[in-house]
Amino acid sequence: MTSDIDPRQPLTHQPLDPTWWRQAAVYQIYPRSFADANGDGIGDLRGIISRVPYLERLGIDAVWLSPFYPSALADGGYDVADYRDVDPRIGTLDEFDEMVAALHAAGIRVIVDIVPNHSSDQHVWFQEALAAGPGSPERARYVFRDGLGPDGSQPPADWESMFGGLAWTRVPDGQWYLHLFAKEQPDFNWDNEEVREDFRRTLRFWSDRGVDGFRIDVAHALAKELGDSLPTQAEIDAITEPGAHPLWDRDEVHEVYADWRKVFDEYTPPRIAVAEAWVTTPRRPRYASAEGLGQAFNFDLLEADFDAGQFRTIIADNLALSAASGSSTTWVFSNHDVVRHATRYALPARNGSTAKQGRDWLLSGGTEPVADVALGLRRARAATLLMLGLPGSAYLYQGEELGLPEVADIPAAERQDPTFFRSPGVDVGRDGCRVPLPWTREGTSFGFGDGGAHLPQPRTFGELSVQAQDGAPGSTLELYRAALALRRELQTDETLEWVPGRADVLHFTRPNGWHVMTNFGTDAVPLPDGEVLLTSEPLPGGVLPGATTAWVRAAV
Ligand code: NOJ
Ligand code: CA
Repeated sequence: MTSDIDPRQPLTHQPLDPTWWRQAAVYQIYPRSFADANGDGIGDLRGIISRVPYLERLGIDAVWLSPFYPSALADGGYDVADYRDVDPRIGTLDEFDEMVAALHAAGIRVIVDIVPNHSSDQHVWFQEALAAGPGSPERARYVFRDGLGPDGSQPPADWESMFGGLAWTRVPDGQWYLHLFAKEQPDFNWDNEEVREDFRRTLRFWSDRGVDGFRIDVAHALAKELGDSLPTQAEIDAITEPGAHPLWDRDEVHEVYADWRKVFDEYTPPRIAVAEAWVTTPRRPRYASAEGLGQAFNFDLLEADFDAGQFRTIIADNLALSAASGSSTTWVFSNHDVVRHATRYALPARNGSTAKQGRDWLLSGGTEPVADVALGLRRARAATLLMLGLPGSAYLYQGEELGLPEVADIPAAERQDPTFFRSPGVDVGRDGCRVPLPWTREGTSFGFGDGGAHLPQPRTFGELSVQAQDGAPGSTLELYRAALALRRELQTDETLEWVPGRADVLHFTRPNGWHVMTNFGTDAVPLPDGEVLLTSEPLPGGVLPGATTAWVRAAV
């Protein structure tokens, strides 16, 4: 870090800092569900612009916008029809520029989502591929194959898609195309130079508009080993050797990112990227390397129970890993794909598979097991305050600063997620964490917009609204605001030191005497000496109660 850069100063004061991302607090906006300015029930860029003061007051360093591109919404926008435009239901490119300017003026950087593994079936290239027929250069941009059997009516392989059902779909002339996700999301062929060139163009397009970085969707897909004879799903499932899977996490994918790195480095400061790569922990550093994307999501805490032992191992492992890659580590509890952490922690522990447990709970309509809502929120607040004290970047998901729970009772007729439709009875999908935000106590869609909300909000959202929590002592919103402001002030080197103690308590210090202590148990425990700066719950009798985190400043 150069000496004229002060991590506590917002972007407006140091726009050229190339290390801004290393310990940033990044807030994920799911644009369709954030704020709806024109009252059509869908969140939009004007809505985001109108809420820049809210984001500034929250104290985040950057926003990451989930896709806002033209899309038929077969997968909540992760089916992109045009990578270099804005969905007219969400806004225009001019409004995008206005939004970036407003965010930058507020000291907030902008990260956009890039979806390179697949496009929408509405993308002009896929439409051209359908029209051009087998063997054409248009088809070579995607993964087309003849079927098996005498008349080719059997799929080229029995692979299952990530959303359930077959990963191959037949087109009218008899060929089949690959889609690892929904059938409306055909996979690109990353051996094709036109595909590569088009994504370089897209990265430059948004970088030229002032975007500071990119979140890379399913970054561990893209490269595939597709010979003439394809393995069966059972054969693929039996592969355990790292890098040997034909579809996921192949070493060749890093050539793509090395190429993108050159594009990122054309800019000052270099554009940043964070990989969404669901790979085993030892395979993660390569995605996070300085020659590649530079940073990768670490989803380990998102799978963990609210448990001191699990947290300690995960934190230690990931700090060691980031030290090895040279990147900073990332932390995340909630995003648009998983059951919100206030709800996961309301369910009994299930040995490190809370994400799956949350999905099972949704299947029961949110009744089995019974959620302890108050305990879930209390634990979520403690976990977040712990995370915001860790070295590295913290990724927050819109609504978690309000302590929103997962919405479990969305009627089938109103569900949108393809997971629900493609895996009937097995998975209800991710709509419950994508319900529009409540801004006001009352009113149409609790202030989300005048035209109602595109997913139904529960009545309890009124009391969790921004209006209800703004200025309310002890509210979750005020806790996030206080924590983010203090975090900026206290931020220091990317290291921590564990303080030994009870098995159900985690206690570490940062180099400047910043103590973070979380009590995962139920017995109250004494606090370290020093000035208590912030706690996730009140401290009766001056000791740290169960499911509570404290930040303490001690002399160094
Ligand atoms: C990961 C995204 O986060 C998820 O929402 C999406 O469905 C898949 N990638 C496919 O693009
Ligand atoms: Ca709208």
